[in-house]
Amino acid sequence: MPVTSSSFAVSPAGAATAPAPPPPALRLEQVSKRFRSSDAPGPASAPPVLAPLDLTISPGEFVAVLGPSGCGKSTLLRLLSGLAEPSAGTITIDGHPPGQGDDLAYVFQDATLLPWLRVDANVETLLRLRRVPAAERARRREAALALVGLADRARAYPRQLSGGQKMRVSLARALATEPRVLLLDEPFGALDEMTRDRLGEELLAIHARQRWTALFVTHSVAEAVFLATRILVLAPRPGRIAHDLRVELPYPRTHDTRRSADYLRLVAEVSARLRAVDPESGTGVPPAASSSAPSPAP
Ligand SMILES: Nc1ncnc2c1ncn2[C@@H]1O[C@H](COP(=O)(O)OP(=O)(O)O)[C@@H](O)[C@H]1O
Ligand SMILES: [Mg+2]
Repeated sequence: MPVTSSSFAVSPAGAATAPAPPPPALRLEQVSKRFRSSDAPGPASAPPVLAPLDLTISPGEFVAVLGPSGCGKSTLLRLLSGLAEPSAGTITIDGHPPGQGDDLAYVFQDATLLPWLRVDANVETLLRLRRVPAAERARRREAALALVGLADRARAYPRQLSGGQKMRVSLARALATEPRVLLLDEPFGALDEMTRDRLGEELLAIHARQRWTALFVTHSVAEAVFLATRILVLAPRPGRIAHDLRVELPYPRTHDTRRSADYLRLVAEVSARLRAVDPESGTGVPPAASSSAPSPAP
């Protein structure tokens, strides 16, 4: 099956001229992933989860990843983090292979806090693992808690926090490592819409100050358009990049952005593209044919 990939700007008012690109923060060259199946061993029997894919992401980009369930979004993040190995191809993160460097942090949908530790100790856990000295840990912990607006909850236990606050602690724990690359796998997926929107706005404000490179997996097209400078729409079986879209909405993006005509138009356009690559959407459009003309949502 051919790898379909299209690249074009989705911009509300014409594309701006881009400056010369800096060296990439993330680069994937012909990266594919195939899991071995214990039921049917042998490489030929396991269909690839990710087709050979090429991807270059510049420092400071905020990339949202959309795609039908099971198309390989989490697998892509696991490969980047070094939690899983590609079957073929090369991955480079800030010039080194995945898993070799302290410049990458991972945030999951579940806040994964240790219930017996207070908020401040939870925020420090990764720093302890990395043997960061106590004074430096304290400095980073306080800075991270202030960033996520939880300085006054440092002595609370996770059970005393709301779902949104727990996710803030999880974010603070990641930010305390001072990452250059932040991988987020549906981090706000379990939160109510208002909390989710507010956390999105806060995340963008932090990104504007710190400029890490973000890869943010979400099921929400609205969230992707709101947050991202660029959206990858993955198609399934095998997972591949069907669309690579630039989101040229101006910053700062605020609550008003969500009501702007440009934003709403982009959400509709990206939704149509996502629907066209989803075999369960019922549009009958085969994934490989979706890059030319998106069909409108029925
Ligand atoms: N460790 C594994 N072993 C075998 N198959 C896996 C493993 N992890 C994921 N898969 C399969 O890879 C595909 C993509 O999974 P995943 O990356 O979790 O998708 P997504 O995050 O897009 O929903 C699925 O079909 C899933 O069943
Ligand atoms: Mg997933």
